[in-house]
Amino acid sequence: MIKPIELFQNPVKFVKKTMSKRKKYARESQVTMTELVLPNDTNTLNNLMGGRLMHWMDIVSAISAQKHSNRVVVTASVDNVSFRHAIPLGSVVCLKAQVTRAFNSSMEIYIEVTAENAASGEKLESNHAFFTFVAVDQLGRPIDVPQVIAETKKEKDLYAGALRRRQLRMILAKRMQPNDATELKALFDDI
Ligand SMILES: CC(C)(COP(=O)(O)OP(=O)(O)OC[C@H]1O[C@@H](n2cnc3c(N)ncnc32)[C@H](O)[C@@H]1OP(=O)(O)O)[C@@H](O)C(=O)NCCC(=O)NCCS
Repeated sequence: MIKPIELFQNPVKFVKKTMSKRKKYARESQVTMTELVLPNDTNTLNNLMGGRLMHWMDIVSAISAQKHSNRVVVTASVDNVSFRHAIPLGSVVCLKAQVTRAFNSSMEIYIEVTAENAASGEKLESNHAFFTFVAVDQLGRPIDVPQVIAETKKEKDLYAGALRRRQLRMILAKRMQPNDATELKALFDDI
């Protein structure tokens, strides 16, 4: 229970505690961004450059993290991204992002990319990825964000998997010992 008197006793602690107790629906962080692949976005084969797509993915997921936290956010990490299909010049690229789960100051964002051939109308799922953003204050220090409420089955599945993905990320970043990754270990124990 948060008491208003705490605001006067310790304003910094009050704001941190209030933010971490707040909850927001995952759907509130939904962002859709549409881009047209122009000549300046392509490689010498006239296909979209991977770096340009990563740039768009970074932007759409930053907006999503910002919507969830109402804070300035920075990219902390990008999980492995693979490009399944080449996206030709003139395609319409649709990027959808949504926060899957928030921890303390960090949020995992799921991004789905589809490409539509403007002439035929054919749509291809190009790729998907997970980005992690951290909300920071004006001095760049991490600050707590609201927790996520998952409603649909897909949101619940993404929410459940987020802890395992976080543990894997932390191990790869040498921020966690493999022995402490209980969620990940449980996966292997079940096999
Ligand atoms: C991201 C950043 C704010 C983390 O700062 P820090 O001093 O490591 O802070 P902490 O150790 O308290 O970690 C803060 C959060 O970041 C998360 N984090 C840190 N490194 C991470 C990584 N490699 N992958 C995923 N999450 C990470 C932590 O798990 C923690 O999450 P939590 O608060 O939800 O538990 C800091 O590293 C930074 O400013 N990096 C540069 C960001 C940037 O410029 N991005 C654009 C790059 S081009």
